[in-house]
Amino acid sequence: MENKITLDTSNIKPFINQSQIDSILAEIVTVDKKLKKGKGEWGDFLGWLHLPSNTTKTLISEIKNTAQEIQKNSDILLCIGIGGSYLGARAGIEFLSPLFKRDEENFKIYFCGTNLSSDYTKDLLDIINTGKELYVNVISKSGSTTEPALAFRIIYDFMKRRYNKREIAKRIIFTTDRKKGRLKKLASKEGFRTFVIPDDVGGRFSVLSPVGLLPMACAGIDIEGLLKGAACMERYIFRCKIEENIAYQYAGIRNLLYRSAKFIEILAGFHPSLHYLLEWWKQLFAETEGKDSKAIFPAIADFTTDLHSLGQLIQEGKRNIFETFLIIDKPLNKVKIPYFKENFDELNYIYGKELDYIDKKAYQGTAQAHTSGGVPNMTIHVPERSPYYLGGIYYFFEIAVAASGYLLGINPFNQPGVEAYKNNMYKLLKRPAT
Ligand code: PA5
Repeated sequence: MENKITLDTSNIKPFINQSQIDSILAEIVTVDKKLKKGKGEWGDFLGWLHLPSNTTKTLISEIKNTAQEIQKNSDILLCIGIGGSYLGARAGIEFLSPLFKRDEENFKIYFCGTNLSSDYTKDLLDIINTGKELYVNVISKSGSTTEPALAFRIIYDFMKRRYNKREIAKRIIFTTDRKKGRLKKLASKEGFRTFVIPDDVGGRFSVLSPVGLLPMACAGIDIEGLLKGAACMERYIFRCKIEENIAYQYAGIRNLLYRSAKFIEILAGFHPSLHYLLEWWKQLFAETEGKDSKAIFPAIADFTTDLHSLGQLIQEGKRNIFETFLIIDKPLNKVKIPYFKENFDELNYIYGKELDYIDKKAYQGTAQAHTSGGVPNMTIHVPERSPYYLGGIYYFFEIAVAASGYLLGINPFNQPGVEAYKNNMYKLLKRPAT
């Protein structure tokens, strides 16, 4: 199937001229070679490039069988992980699930290891300490990130009091490095099952590996459909002409806007199910680009909600912003505006219209207003909320951010700055030297 995710750049025209586009195209040609060659500069972490097409049937079956086992034998799956080992799975689950959970649903997925809050942890312990059956998926490539490591320590202690050794070995599953790290060591000692995060796939590029696939399969998501959509985007990226490649267009335009002092990008969705996808994008772009004193600051907004908070600032504040709208073209459901004879709210003029039709008019009105207010904007159109298009959008943003990092002249695949707070925290905690 052809790629049906599209990029509308018409509202960029007042801000960027053709000669700028031509000049960045030459740079993109070089970036394209570096990326697709799969080796060269920073090439050790390009394993994610072919995850969609290279994921084996055996691995997919193993993930699906494990997910079925988890659904059958537990009420709660606890996913422990942070950053790239957390957000992709959550984004996918929230994107595809109904927006309101029903009380009678008996299988739930909770996330922890994403903070150091004693209140969050205690509230979670109270929920799992009600006789519910539990599985735990600890997701950490290094196996030593503080937040998930502490969460696991607390949950492991709980599991040891709740289950015998054999049950624990069945109910704790690690997604981690093939050979290295504390989790791998513990798994070998205790006989825990492990899924592998490939060596050449960094955390924030790992959503299409077992990192994202196992929790999503547990949520009932069709992971084969998801990988098909990602593979379609992979084929598109590798086969289409560079000047027509929408991921490169997006990366190139961002870079040109950055050069004209638009230092903040707001990725704005017009659908509540996009919230965690926006969070995933924020992490992907912030950790990839923010280094060597360079960065486009990735901010997110949930419209129309945030039009009543950020809207004023975007329309009339400092002109250092550009926007990308993420639009789901077709909602899953239709809700029509009812008729009231007395027209108490004077809304009869839109009676019979679908709510989504009005949402789309709000999007168009916003794009027009922000363009005339001096905020360049473009729009990514996703045909619908489906695993197939979710796969496509993950891959699209991964390619775009890698290309964008190369254009900025930074290593897109490391995150050395994250260590600074950790080192200070370890000193304050008086951690013994290792
Ligand atoms: O993108 C990254 O590499 C990071 O966001 C990591 O995913 C995050 O820090 C978690 O690391 P780990 O999986 O080693 O626990």
